[in-house]
Amino acid sequence: MSDAWQAVGQLGTRTLQELFAAEADRVQRLTLEEAGIRFDFAKTHLGEDALAAFEALAEQQDLAAARDALFAGAEVNPTEGRAAEHSAERGQGAPESVARASTLHARMRALIDAIEAEAFGPIRHILHIGIGGSALGPDFLIDALGRDAGRYDAAIVSNVDAAALEEAVADFDPHSTLLAVASKTFTTMETLLNTRSALAWLEQGGVADPYGQMVALTAAPDKAIEFGVDETRILPFSETVGGRYSLWSSIGFPAALALGWEAFEQMLEGAAAMDRHFRLAPLSRNAPVLAAFVDRYYANVRGCETRAVFAYDERLRLLPSYLQQLEMESNGKSVKLDGTPVGRASSQITWGGVGTDAQHAVFQLLHQGTHLVPVEFVAAVEPGHSYDEEHHRQLLINCFAQGAALMAGKGSEDPHRNYPGDRPSTTILLDRVDPFTIGALLAFYEHRTFVNAVLLGINPFDQFGVELGKSMAKAIDNGEDLGFDPSTEALIARALGE
Ligand code: F6P
Repeated sequence: MSDAWQAVGQLGTRTLQELFAAEADRVQRLTLEEAGIRFDFAKTHLGEDALAAFEALAEQQDLAAARDALFAGAEVNPTEGRAAEHSAERGQGAPESVARASTLHARMRALIDAIEAEAFGPIRHILHIGIGGSALGPDFLIDALGRDAGRYDAAIVSNVDAAALEEAVADFDPHSTLLAVASKTFTTMETLLNTRSALAWLEQGGVADPYGQMVALTAAPDKAIEFGVDETRILPFSETVGGRYSLWSSIGFPAALALGWEAFEQMLEGAAAMDRHFRLAPLSRNAPVLAAFVDRYYANVRGCETRAVFAYDERLRLLPSYLQQLEMESNGKSVKLDGTPVGRASSQITWGGVGTDAQHAVFQLLHQGTHLVPVEFVAAVEPGHSYDEEHHRQLLINCFAQGAALMAGKGSEDPHRNYPGDRPSTTILLDRVDPFTIGALLAFYEHRTFVNAVLLGINPFDQFGVELGKSMAKAIDNGEDLGFDPSTEALIARALGE
């Protein structure tokens, strides 16, 4: 075991109450405000000793050099021979990559202007088809920010189960529907099958040229052309932008269309503000870095297998699903960059829900269960509705009360009524849910995921783990006799009659 990890492994386990008693300036030191977001790490077990140990680990793992390499457009994804240039999409990266991203954004904007000018007819509905990183980002953005945008009805369809497509188009008029197909590779089975069915739906609805209402968002324009999409309706993005990091590129097209170009640009600006913070702030005052230290502490010192994210804001209800892909597809790995075993827990399992609903469902386990689960509360000071302000007051009161209760606990002679306390939480408080702040928040999560990977020594930008299942499905589809296990053979025979 390397020295810095050894020191981390030997960290004491002082309680939160002890830490607050010993460190009078805890709130000051462990709370920071950046880009309209307050990050409060004070109710975690990140004591001064832990901070020093993790800073030493960051130095050992050469976090500063890794961060520079990321922003310089170096090949930080060696297993796929690529850079990871999502930050270039928001103007922070190698000059040639920033210029390319800006040209492609201009192309996207021109197409949006054309749609607004009714070059595609009277478009009122956006049917976005994509999966994973080609759906979760746009879905989250439109759900969070598009509630009163009112320009278009947007539906995001990802599942190959056509019940999703059927429901999405139920109230859409084919003549005023724009089909936006998002796929980095333009080879994804679910997306291509759903696209064919959507084109058939347009045709059956009387649209003479269904392809004329289709736009492709992809890093493989040649494949989209092969599929039948006209070159003028393809919005390319760079191969160096990873799928789960792609909402800033043309994958964000439905959001840019539904929310308006100005909102999309503000989102990029918010992300750029977080990029600058991540690049320039010292480690001890750096939000993504501190968050990753907290993640590593609970995963590698306290043995926590999960972390829970609760959005205390209905507009952010899709955040946990978005984070599940970002964190688990990035860091759910068992080997380091050099192929040797990572040797310690890598990604935590990310789960969560919406407050206050979750309080009445899963919080029992958080307060009294046998698992220690670091909790993250995400809330906004400004409400997202025009009803009585008492709603928002109660929402925030409950959010803060839960964090306090998890930490304080409450002793009782009756073991059933005893709350052990000392349960950690982080609170992320947005000034408001607007494009700038959401851009900053998502960039914060991206960089936090990256820092976790650097501390672990793994590559967060590949995802070979998803390939085996895909190839087995293809083999079944092709009727190949791969000698599956008897259980699988029996299921195939029973349900598919093959
Ligand atoms: O199967 C995993 C994955 O490759 C994700 O990483 C990606 O976001 C998703 O599939 C969709 O891929 P594509 O954008 O190429 O259709």
